[in-house]
Amino acid sequence: MTTSPPGSPSTPGSTDWSSIDEIAGVVRTCTNCRLHSGRTNAVPGDGSPVASILIIGEGPGFNEDQQGLPFVGRSGKLLDELLAEVPLSRKGVFITNVVKCRPPDNRDPLPDEVAACRPYLERQMELINPKVIVTLGRHSYLRFYPDGKISRDHGKILRWNDRILFPLYHPAAGLRNPAIKRDLREDVLRLPEALRESLKIKSATLPEADEVPGRPEPVGVHQPTAPQAQTSQANSPEEANAGGSLSEPVIGNETTEEKGDRQLGFF
Ligand code: URA
Ligand code: SF4
Repeated sequence: MTTSPPGSPSTPGSTDWSSIDEIAGVVRTCTNCRLHSGRTNAVPGDGSPVASILIIGEGPGFNEDQQGLPFVGRSGKLLDELLAEVPLSRKGVFITNVVKCRPPDNRDPLPDEVAACRPYLERQMELINPKVIVTLGRHSYLRFYPDGKISRDHGKILRWNDRILFPLYHPAAGLRNPAIKRDLREDVLRLPEALRESLKIKSATLPEADEVPGRPEPVGVHQPTAPQAQTSQANSPEEANAGGSLSEPVIGNETTEEKGDRQLGFF
């Protein structure tokens, strides 16, 4: 694959950007979908490029578009509060969105916009190589599991290729609905458990993520050496280890050291 200089179109085969900063440069001048025409600033993402936890929202809103940073409005304030309860700070995670430019009037991103923006998220995932992917809201979750249902699956610890997928409600939904906000608070407190589960996955024995399009599956069922089905369609996810026998100490194993991620020390 070739390397794409900043500003050049991201066509398939030209997505081999070598750093998070390089992706950010390309995103800021990207014109690959109609969303570029309404933006003030593209919002490539923010946080630690070696984070164990990647948080993926849907798309920038007004404040994010103004500042070029993800989750800096009211949803962002709630997200910060929730992370603080874990405790996590946004400096220790990486936060981005399915689409990097604000959809007009905060409408949902359209399928062709999600598709156009996909190479950026794909490469961010490859480079950051997070252990846990937290999706916020329906659109972000459906990017990984097209048949998913956020009202059913929120807070479940799911296996997605060699990572953990942890779907949460969107903070904006929490701001509108107190019951959802309560669920969100409860769910987010399972993040350390999700991270512990992720550290049991031996990524070296698994195929590359882009060789095996993902579907979520329960942790503990998948054998590390057994490749998953070659399908982009997901089957029904189930909660892994509900109620949890997840108390094994996992901090400081080789996976932790390999990542060099101080964030793990919080747990
Ligand atoms: N909502 C999102 O989905 N992403 C942001 O960055 C802000 C609000
Ligand atoms: Fe490019 Fe993504 Fe912005 Fe569309 S949303 S213009 S694909 S960066």
